[in-house]
Amino acid sequence: MDGRLLVFSGSANQELAREIATSLRMSVGRAYIGAFKNGETRIKIHDNVRGCDVFVIQPTCTPVDHHLMELLLMIDALRRASATRVTAVIPYYGYAKQEKKTAGREPISAKLVANLIRTAGADRVLTMDLHAPAIEGFFDIPVDHLQAAPLLSDYIHSLNLSNPVVVSPDAGGVGRANRFRERIGAGLAIIAKQRPEPDTAEVLEMVGEVEGKTAIIVDDMISTGGTLVEAAQALIERGARKVYACATHGIFAADALEIIARSGIVETIVTNTIPQRQQASSARVRTISVAPLFAEAIMRIHKDLSLSALFS
Ligand code: R5P
Repeated sequence: MDGRLLVFSGSANQELAREIATSLRMSVGRAYIGAFKNGETRIKIHDNVRGCDVFVIQPTCTPVDHHLMELLLMIDALRRASATRVTAVIPYYGYAKQEKKTAGREPISAKLVANLIRTAGADRVLTMDLHAPAIEGFFDIPVDHLQAAPLLSDYIHSLNLSNPVVVSPDAGGVGRANRFRERIGAGLAIIAKQRPEPDTAEVLEMVGEVEGKTAIIVDDMISTGGTLVEAAQALIERGARKVYACATHGIFAADALEIIARSGIVETIVTNTIPQRQQASSARVRTISVAPLFAEAIMRIHKDLSLSALFS
């Protein structure tokens, strides 16, 4: 694509943005991100972006509404400043949990957010491990959907765990867990979970042999930690020797880190799509950086090259 490549960042994960920019051998573009005295978000792009190919990095993590608004305003500002193309780089896509109606009189939040991003003026989206793959189809613009599995499974592989079995903590994650298990050459177990109410998880049943094995729970996100901790308990009760956990997005809402620390999980591995600040907690959490992968994807999009190689 013609036009200079520029990278900007909202306030959600400036460390990741800096890492991505460093991998691209550039600096993050200069912008003011603050607020008016009445609480409204105020954005001012300082660098000239006319004719440029601009990437705005902003995971829509907590505070979700605020980070989403920053992203929308930045895209709008860049559009009005005559950027040739604006790509919304959303390493973690918030509001993804409601991607369908499960009862009457509920919104489809993931679709509304997709509409907002498009309306603001984004030409493309670059994201990672959407909660539901169908969300990709909510956009009428190209979406490049990266996966953290190659990074997470490389780490798990490096541990040389004995007799590993990959566990999906719910029916919706079976495809993800199966692909993960193929990467590390492990068995597969599946948990059937129910949610008696939002943010509460209960294990109903488990399929697959886990006794005497090292279980690796694979999920897209850890929010309250309920799904993870319930799954770990069920695995230990069924004789798993050790339990590890992998998830792309470490949200760690409320007391998630405390309940994970008490759960008996040996190590929880997440990425830095969302800033990780759990050093103070006693949960054993390892963070793997997605910055080199995002940098490579950005470079390939800029040069109109295929991204397929990034999925293997
Ligand atoms: C399914 O709902 C998802 O893949 C995750 O299992 C879930 O979002 C994790 O949420 P929590 O940590 O609150 O149980």
